[in-house]
Amino acid sequence: MTIDQGIETTEWYFKQLRLNKIQKIIFQESWKGDSYIEIANNFSYDIGYVTDSGSKLWQLLSELIGEKVTKKNFQLVLEQYRSNIHDGKTEFFQKSVTEPISYATLNAGECQDWGEAIDVSFFCGRTAELVSLKQWIVDDRCRLIVLLGMGGIGKTALAVKCATQIQEEFECIVWKSLRNSPSVLSLLTEIILFLSGGLQEVETLETVEQQISSLIELLRSKRCLLILDNAESILQSGQQSGHYRDDYEGYGQLLRRVADERHQSCVILTSREKPVGLTAREGKTLPVRSLQLSGLSQLEAKSILQAKGLTSEQLGIDQLVQCYAGNPLALKISATTIQSVYDGNVSKFLQQGTIVFGDIWDLLDQQFNRLSDIEKQVMYRLAANRNCLTLQELQKDISPKVSNRELLEALEFLQQRSLVERQQTLFIPHPVIREYIAETLILNAYLLEKEIHEP
Ligand SMILES: Nc1ncnc2c1ncn2[C@@H]1O[C@H](COP(=O)(O)OP(=O)(O)O)[C@@H](O)[C@H]1O
Ligand SMILES: [Mg+2]
Repeated sequence: MTIDQGIETTEWYFKQLRLNKIQKIIFQESWKGDSYIEIANNFSYDIGYVTDSGSKLWQLLSELIGEKVTKKNFQLVLEQYRSNIHDGKTEFFQKSVTEPISYATLNAGECQDWGEAIDVSFFCGRTAELVSLKQWIVDDRCRLIVLLGMGGIGKTALAVKCATQIQEEFECIVWKSLRNSPSVLSLLTEIILFLSGGLQEVETLETVEQQISSLIELLRSKRCLLILDNAESILQSGQQSGHYRDDYEGYGQLLRRVADERHQSCVILTSREKPVGLTAREGKTLPVRSLQLSGLSQLEAKSILQAKGLTSEQLGIDQLVQCYAGNPLALKISATTIQSVYDGNVSKFLQQGTIVFGDIWDLLDQQFNRLSDIEKQVMYRLAANRNCLTLQELQKDISPKVSNRELLEALEFLQQRSLVERQQTLFIPHPVIREYIAETLILNAYLLEKEIHEP
């Protein structure tokens, strides 16, 4: 077949199949014999997005033709099919082809509000997490997914990445940050107006219940992806961790109903702490799931440092990654400091001993102020000990005495917030957090002394 014939043929297929943009590109380039990697590179697409869209395309064609279609054999199978049509042996794709692709073709870009979503053009790793999320959302049709992890670990970045990779699954996408703690009524009003295209008369919905019902109705009528970022902002800190702040209990109702009621949409929540009431609704076969994020791998973390101008062969790079337990934010901030203060010399930076500074300090301050007394004590004990501690050792140290259950609960919370990691029966805080605590203890002692001397 000549190139011209090839183009004529692919165009004929485009018309028959009504493919969307990415499907057309994959079809055309695969016809030319290009690999997924080449397609991703040539068209500046994410490789995961290309392979996913590709496998969906072959699956769709397999269903239509009733024969297994793959990237390797699609040309052969389709040409055979086309010649059968010419010979009058079969009609072209009796089944409707528009239905499964309609979201993508109908709505591309029309019903999307990405709000404060961050740019993820540079993104590394998280392959396993993306696979799980996509399976939960696309295959298992989960209604509520919670992304958990400490500040800076990459929850927001992962949510954006995932959403961009599966956007064609959805008719509408809405991204909302809860950072400034909007009231549930104002949040719902905005979302309802957006999803209904301004048609829903929100003024008539007086109560939170009515608004939630109206939203669920919309989530039932179209497949929407709703992302609520920074949900810790509407949760209490301290003893009542995971409980909603006063006047924010409406969010609890919203999440419970999104989880429990039948609809075809998905809500992704990112938070440092898990809101109460969700654990009981979660399960491998249930439509509510949560994903706890830990740090990036050594290799992935190194590519972040590399992007910030440090080379992976540099002395001390591995140690730097370990120091920050693969926390991308901490790595990015430290890399910037290493460049500007230490002339790009990682070892010099590590030698100065203090690995907590600037923004990370603020980041950890925020985390720490949210802890209850027991949790703080546990953190102090763990930080004061260079070795990992067992539960019994910890309990001995804490005063006033606490029960096993209280201690386990505290440890559970600290693990959830990624402040403490568990290695079998031992507990350890992240290195960066240990450093932070050591510093704050010094600071507190210093402040106390000042208070005594200068009342
Ligand atoms: N997998 C990743 N690859 C590259 N950069 C990342 C990755 N994950 C996070 N980052 C970057 O690290 C920083 C912190 O990530 P973010 O998603 O804001 O964390 P969180 O939402 O958990 O507080 C951001 O600048 C983000 O772009
Ligand atoms: Mg975030």
